[in-house]
Amino acid sequence: MKILIVGNMGYVGPVLTRHLRRAHPHAILIGFDAGLFAHCLIGSAPLPEIYLDRQVFGDVRHVDKNLFEGVDAVVNLAAISNDPMGNRFEEATIAINYKAAVELAAAAKRAGVRSYVFASSCSVYGCAEEGAKQESSKVDPLTAYARSKVMAEKELIPMADDRFTVTCLRFSTACGMSDRLRLDLVLNDFVAGAVTQKKIVVMSDGTPWRPLINVKDMARAIDWAIGRSAEKAGVGLIVNVGSNEWNCQVRDLAHAVAAAIPGVEVSINTNAPPDRRSYRVSYDLYKELAPAFQPLSDLKSTIIEMIEGLKRAGFQNPAYRDSQYMRLNVIRKFREEGLLNDRLELDRFDKQINAV
Ligand SMILES: NC(=O)c1ccc[n+]([C@@H]2O[C@H](COP(=O)([O-])OP(=O)(O)OC[C@H]3O[C@@H](n4cnc5c(N)ncnc54)[C@H](O)[C@@H]3O)[C@@H](O)[C@H]2O)c1
Repeated sequence: MKILIVGNMGYVGPVLTRHLRRAHPHAILIGFDAGLFAHCLIGSAPLPEIYLDRQVFGDVRHVDKNLFEGVDAVVNLAAISNDPMGNRFEEATIAINYKAAVELAAAAKRAGVRSYVFASSCSVYGCAEEGAKQESSKVDPLTAYARSKVMAEKELIPMADDRFTVTCLRFSTACGMSDRLRLDLVLNDFVAGAVTQKKIVVMSDGTPWRPLINVKDMARAIDWAIGRSAEKAGVGLIVNVGSNEWNCQVRDLAHAVAAAIPGVEVSINTNAPPDRRSYRVSYDLYKELAPAFQPLSDLKSTIIEMIEGLKRAGFQNPAYRDSQYMRLNVIRKFREEGLLNDRLELDRFDKQINAV
């Protein structure tokens, strides 16, 4: 089996790479990434890319068809991956998360790839507090990021046929350790605050619902999607990935983290304007289709995993919200230095070379 992981050098990619290397020791694994966050490593483990057979650098908007030679499955993680970046760089978000995702699938299909796995998001449900949303529920994307995922899904699903399986995994918000940790994700942010300042600052009023999933369980879901048969769920599938038990309100997440470290204070911004991005999600379909790949981590075990991971890495930066572990900070810095243009294209052949 030959698997191409596009967008492999972010937060999810390294965890997926380790998982696939362990689960399929003889598979050929290829990574493809622009490398925007390649330097944002935490800890001192060897580069996660050593578990790949090959790493290719490039922009997902311009993929050479030779990349697909002999490839059985493509996993597409490449994205401008959150709302703040999507709001600031809307055009690039649509171009990368939607247009390039569809073109990548078309090129993969032409080249004879059999399985395409797309990392979508439960944020497509937008504001959905009245009941748990199912895959057939109406979507309500409130941001450019969420819109880009809806637009991609809409064109990807009809591309599926007997020879080309398409799986759009609508992931819950990720949490947990990774070689390229992100601290712009709600639970990770809270743990970092608790560890470095003994304080958790909740930016919202704490009431929004946010389902979570450990990044290791995302990797297992992708593994399932790569190998799933079309018999049970059809050639084109959209499925929510997470667990019903992990539908939590943001304030409950903050208190759960505080409970794990003595003396941590929780500050909730009761004056914050309401955050409309609040959704509860049903994971019944995923449970039915992938019983052997259900999430194994829960809130408590993930909090402990993160506290230990940050300690192991010697992470003590109380100004972590200004650090390179927030994706937007990295993009902003590259923009200021002129290494990225407004379309978020890397100037690999000019300023980048001279910059060092
Ligand atoms: N982390 C979450 O909570 C979460 C939840 C739901 C869905 N997802 C989706 O999962 C995927 C992976 O998320 P992540 O947390 O690892 O994000 P990330 O930002 O850490 O990684 C994204 C990767 O895509 C690469 N990339 C961006 N633009 C590119 C381009 N033009 N060409 C090539 N590579 C490019 C980046 O360099 C980076 O390595 C994304 O599609 C994201 O939308 C993530």
